Amino acid sequence: MRIAVGADHAGWPLKEGLVRFLMDRGWDVEDFGTFSDESVDYPDYAEKVGRAVAFGKVDRGLLLCGTGMGMCISANKVDGVRAVTAHDLMSARLSRQHNDANVLTMGARIVAPAMAEEILGRWLDTDFEGGRHQRRIEKIQTMESGRF
Ligand code: RB5
Repeated sequence: MRIAVGADHAGWPLKEGLVRFLMDRGWDVEDFGTFSDESVDYPDYAEKVGRAVAFGKVDRGLLLCGTGMGMCISANKVDGVRAVTAHDLMSARLSRQHNDANVLTMGARIVAPAMAEEILGRWLDTDFEGGRHQRRIEKIQTMESGRF
């Protein structure tokens, strides 16, 4: 399984630890940066990771910034991306079971690294339930640009 990862300067320290966590769990990680605390713009990284997910180059995406929210807003501009910000285990689980979220965002200024690992692990390990939720995903897809 492949996962694309990206962060801005605020998310970068959290990203480094989560990349190691993912590799330890056997994930093939494509790291789009950033690789330092030099100030950068989060939409640039959200677009790269979002496109990798939407084009099927990877199975999932992970984006880190200060709050997780700028990354989430930006990634959701890419058709095919269903990005969620999750800072608790229930949100992580339900975003997979009900929303088939394919990108997880978290804020390095919000969540501690150990909690971020728990959230990421829960999110990766939870499957989409399908059924009535599939119909709702299809309605989201219909809303994507040029199709409604
Ligand atoms: C950067 O200072 C900060 O605004 C960014 O990391 C993120 O939190 C935006 O949503």
